[in-house]
Amino acid sequence: MISSTLPWVAASIFILPSLGKLYNNPSQLIKTNYDYIVIGGGAAGAVVAARLSENSDISVLLVEAGISNEGITDIDIPLLGLSLAPSTPLDWNYTTIPQPGLGNRAIPYPRGKVLGGSTSVNYMVYMRGSTEDFDRYASVTGESGWVWDQMLEYAKKNEKLVSPADHHDTTGEFLPSLHGTSGPISVSLGGNPTPLDSRVIATTEEFPTEFPFNPDTIGGDILGIGWAFASIGNGTRSSSATGYLAPASGRPNLDIVVNAQATKLEVTGKKGTVPCFHRVLVAEKAGAAVYALTANQEIILSAGTFGTPALLQLSGIGNKTELSAAGVTTIIDNPSVGKNMSDHALLPNVWNVDNPDTYDSVFRNPSQALEQWTNNRTGPFASHIANQLGWLRLPQTASIFETTPDPAAGPNSSHFEMIFLNYWLNPNTPAPPTGNFMSEATVLISPTSRGFVKISSSDPFKPPLVNPNWLNTDFDIFALVESVKISRRFFAAKAWEGYILDPVGELGTAETDEEIEAYVRKNVNGIWHAVGTAMMTSKDAGYGVVDPDLKVKGVNGLRIVDGSILPFVPNAHTQGTIYLIAERGADLIKDDYHDDTCPTC
Ligand SMILES: Cc1cc2nc3c(=O)[nH]c(=O)nc-3n(C[C@H](O)[C@H](O)[C@H](O)COP(=O)(O)OP(=O)(O)OC[C@H]3O[C@@H](n4cnc5c(N)ncnc54)[C@H](O)[C@@H]3O)c2cc1C
Ligand SMILES: *[C@@H]1O[C@H](CO)[C@@H](O)[C@H](O)[C@H]1NC(C)=O
Ligand SMILES: *[C@@H]1O[C@H](CO)[C@@H](O)[C@H](O)[C@H]1NC(C)=O
Ligand SMILES: *[C@@H]1O[C@H](CO)[C@@H](O)[C@H](O)[C@H]1NC(C)=O
Ligand SMILES: *[C@@H]1O[C@H](CO)[C@@H](O)[C@H](O)[C@H]1NC(C)=O
Ligand SMILES: *[C@@H]1O[C@H](CO)[C@@H](O)[C@H](O)[C@H]1NC(C)=O
Ligand SMILES: *[C@@H]1O[C@H](CO)[C@@H](O)[C@H](O)[C@H]1NC(C)=O
Repeated sequence: MISSTLPWVAASIFILPSLGKLYNNPSQLIKTNYDYIVIGGGAAGAVVAARLSENSDISVLLVEAGISNEGITDIDIPLLGLSLAPSTPLDWNYTTIPQPGLGNRAIPYPRGKVLGGSTSVNYMVYMRGSTEDFDRYASVTGESGWVWDQMLEYAKKNEKLVSPADHHDTTGEFLPSLHGTSGPISVSLGGNPTPLDSRVIATTEEFPTEFPFNPDTIGGDILGIGWAFASIGNGTRSSSATGYLAPASGRPNLDIVVNAQATKLEVTGKKGTVPCFHRVLVAEKAGAAVYALTANQEIILSAGTFGTPALLQLSGIGNKTELSAAGVTTIIDNPSVGKNMSDHALLPNVWNVDNPDTYDSVFRNPSQALEQWTNNRTGPFASHIANQLGWLRLPQTASIFETTPDPAAGPNSSHFEMIFLNYWLNPNTPAPPTGNFMSEATVLISPTSRGFVKISSSDPFKPPLVNPNWLNTDFDIFALVESVKISRRFFAAKAWEGYILDPVGELGTAETDEEIEAYVRKNVNGIWHAVGTAMMTSKDAGYGVVDPDLKVKGVNGLRIVDGSILPFVPNAHTQGTIYLIAERGADLIKDDYHDDTCPTC
């Protein structure tokens, strides 16, 4: 996001041979047949590969298009999470189609292309969603296994709560009973204090009705403002690659191949009239040799919200008219593939502040912070991107509810989020060379706009069209316009007197709703939480891509476990929610394991 001001501090990319069986491209593979083939080593794919290979009788291959995460120091340094995308060797480099809701701007849309997927390049905020998010997933799919009370067990299975980098006293910043203590992903509270900390908390004390304090923001009871968690342990990023794959990589029954892009799923036979997809083609890059790999049991698609629907479409599963236009023969005419994308939108609000201790100075001159991190794993580089965040609702009396049903997951879920940042954050405008700043990024959490992902060609190396369709509805624009007024009430608290100098740009001048709307449309950008493009629906629904057991509708041998299956974007930064569904997804797959030696068809 602020990459223009941040150099790669450790620019060299090299691969250490420390992951057990790591093949560097598909030509090195010795076997072409496995019980399970998992496509994509991101948040979900790493969980599935690691959990399935816990059973030493089962052989698993993990296929990842990107490079290995090993030996790339910038990935490890928490605050440099802001510099790993877009447009780096770790990114797929997607760009949205022009967004009418944003004055036709086209926005770079990062996705991790590396082991760990987006968990190796993300900002590490760690949450689960609201109880109502999961209860809604259960009610719209008719599958009670997705309710919050059942999923909490998986949440604790994923998390290892550890001490923050600075080992400060965290009393009052969290509720121990809500946390896991022995899972693969290290999670901690903020590891470096900022001048915002006491002021944010003081504001919740001055305005407890509108801005209540939330004693634990991890998820479940989501509303209110409190201390943020991140997937950081020992001052270092904890990703699905470090947390799940590294410990599993010595297993003789788990192979991992990087620089291997799945380009097509192929039909291997029929069970009755239902086609079986037990084969996948992979290649290192455009023009390189293509290898066919077979799964006896199942192929699990974990290529993410963009990669999964694109691969289905390339394989003939999608809207027939659109597949024909792209030159692909339809095998299953399912018009839901790639549609109903649900995504958060981010509005960056920035102020000049009277304090030299903002991270702006660190970004301009990083050497001291880098040295402190290198020697001690502390200081600004060990910091979260934000130490506090909050989850809030529009007033019940807001005029929009006269015309639009409340789209929140429930009455105890939010419409928008506030993120408090100790530096300039505006993805549209690089940070100025001088000055000190504070940002409050407002995130639209309950969008009603829906977008899509669609291939434009049968060439798997041509990126799909990506359309989050931000701010395409009256509700979405109303919520963000109101959020600006709500934000102004927040920063009118006494705690900010003398700290805030003045708002930057039109944040200071926009007064009427029309002026605020123009400011919103000019400044909104992404926060990279898209889900929904292979939506999970009930078995008898007339639309949707997977059943509640995550099996692809209308075919045999294919399951999807990643963010694409979530029918609504959650009250969370999405990695935690996706870890939970992946933990349960792995259990569903294990439950279906049958002891056959050859593909079922
Ligand atoms: C810059 C950025 C910042 C973010 N910040 C946060 C944050 O602070 N907190 C948070 O909770 N969430 C954050 N997110 C979102 C979060 O990381 C994602 O929602 C989550 O990682 C998605 O999980 P996934 O398993 O669906 O996909 P991913 O983690 O993206 O994994 C998909 C994997 O599949 C691979 N792949 C794709 N296509 C193919 C193919 N054809 N063949 C083989 N491999 C393929 C990809 O290379 C990738 O490794 C952020 C995302 C980004 C990009
Ligand atoms: C993304 O852009 C970077 C920088 O230009 C480049 O190094 C990388 O190879 C690109 N990634 C893809 C998938 O094209
Ligand atoms: C090193 O880290 C510890 C906490 O782990 C901290 O107490 C100490 O002050 C740090 N030292 C330096 C030089 O930053
Ligand atoms: C934390 O990081 C330091 C510095 O690299 C290392 O010496 C130490 O072993 C790490 N501790 C844990 C628990 O990983
Ligand atoms: C399939 O795609 C075409 C072209 O975009 C569209 O007109 C049609 O409505 C889609 N079909 C369904 C059932 O959504
Ligand atoms: C998108 O989701 C809605 C329900 O929210 C559903 O009615 C519609 O059919 C879906 N569209 C497609 C193309 O699947
Ligand atoms: C919302 O949360 C409050 C406080 O936790 C609780 O008393 C109430 O029952 C919840 N409402 C619903 C509809 O779940």
